[in-house]
Amino acid sequence: MSHDRFTRLLHLLIAVGIVAQLVGSMGMVHPKPGRAGDALYVMHEIWGQVLLGILIVHWVWSWVRSGSVPIGQLVPWFSGQRCRAVWEDIKNYGSHAVRFRLPEATHPTPLPSAVQGLGLIAATVLGVSGTLLYFYMDPTVKMVGWLHDIKEMHEAVGVMLWIYLVTHAVMGMLHQWVGHESLWAMVKVWKKYPLGAAVLLAMIFFLPSPVWAGRVVDDLLAGYRSEGAVSFNAEQGRELFNRVNSGEGGSCVDCHSANPAQSGKHLKTGKPIEPLAPSANKERLQDAAKVEKWFGRNCKGTLGRDCSPQEKGDFLTYLLTIQ
Ligand code: HEC
Repeated sequence: MSHDRFTRLLHLLIAVGIVAQLVGSMGMVHPKPGRAGDALYVMHEIWGQVLLGILIVHWVWSWVRSGSVPIGQLVPWFSGQRCRAVWEDIKNYGSHAVRFRLPEATHPTPLPSAVQGLGLIAATVLGVSGTLLYFYMDPTVKMVGWLHDIKEMHEAVGVMLWIYLVTHAVMGMLHQWVGHESLWAMVKVWKKYPLGAAVLLAMIFFLPSPVWAGRVVDDLLAGYRSEGAVSFNAEQGRELFNRVNSGEGGSCVDCHSANPAQSGKHLKTGKPIEPLAPSANKERLQDAAKVEKWFGRNCKGTLGRDCSPQEKGDFLTYLLTIQ
């Protein structure tokens, strides 16, 4: 049996989306009081919501489509008859498994459909809880109460989805291996529309990127506010940058040049330093950890102490005003 084209497209989007979300979640940095989230975290937030939208479309489509797996087969748990069919299928799979076989299947049978339904439910629960966190979580305040419970649940269901994903992929390959063409049924769309598929994948990875830069700085500033800084002032930031400090420290401009939109030169090593202002250098202020690391070094080097959250926020605000 072949799935209709829209089902295949949805499956592709959901599969790519879930894999990206799970893999991304391993490396991302969560925001917490005093620490900003990173670009991966921002991407996780954005794609989580897009994916929830796709999942909702998928549920509606499973409800209305004909020919493919009906929604009652994905969610059999409310019908005695369907539950019995799942049980029969489990026995069938079991009796084949002891002979290292898989049941012959031209149509998706009750057991795999029910397992896939569980995966879709888990992904939807993740999407809903993640979206709630997105709207209600304030990274500058420690999480308590129901929001904390939702976060715990989000993480627990995430582990379940990992298990599901591995099982799903392994079973798909087993079916393919014994000649059921289950993988081809889903990836046919790739062969037919290679260009479309490539554009789609590229979108998944690059669409959130313009949002990153702004978000990283926003999170940093929110972090500084949570550490006691009040509203930020670009003029103060400019003053800090140009201030001539006593002692051997000197000034920020000694290395970065007086114009942050221009390249500087390292005071001691003479190595060129790319412009600091994001308007002149797209790679600036993209990575909260990097910004913090250089604040740490450079403030100690020039001022002989750490910069305060207020000073850091003022300085970033100054950099953003430079065109
Ligand atoms: C001794 C030379 C030197 C001085 C003085 C100096 N910096 Fe830097 N700064 C560097 C170098 C080197 C880097 C990292 C190289 C790079 O990313 O191009 C850097 C990177 C940074 C970054 C990282 C930006 C990013 O996201 O990539 C910030 C912010 C920064 N400096 C701010 C300051 C401020 C504020 C001062 C003054 C308090 C200052 N620097 C003084 C050498 C210096």
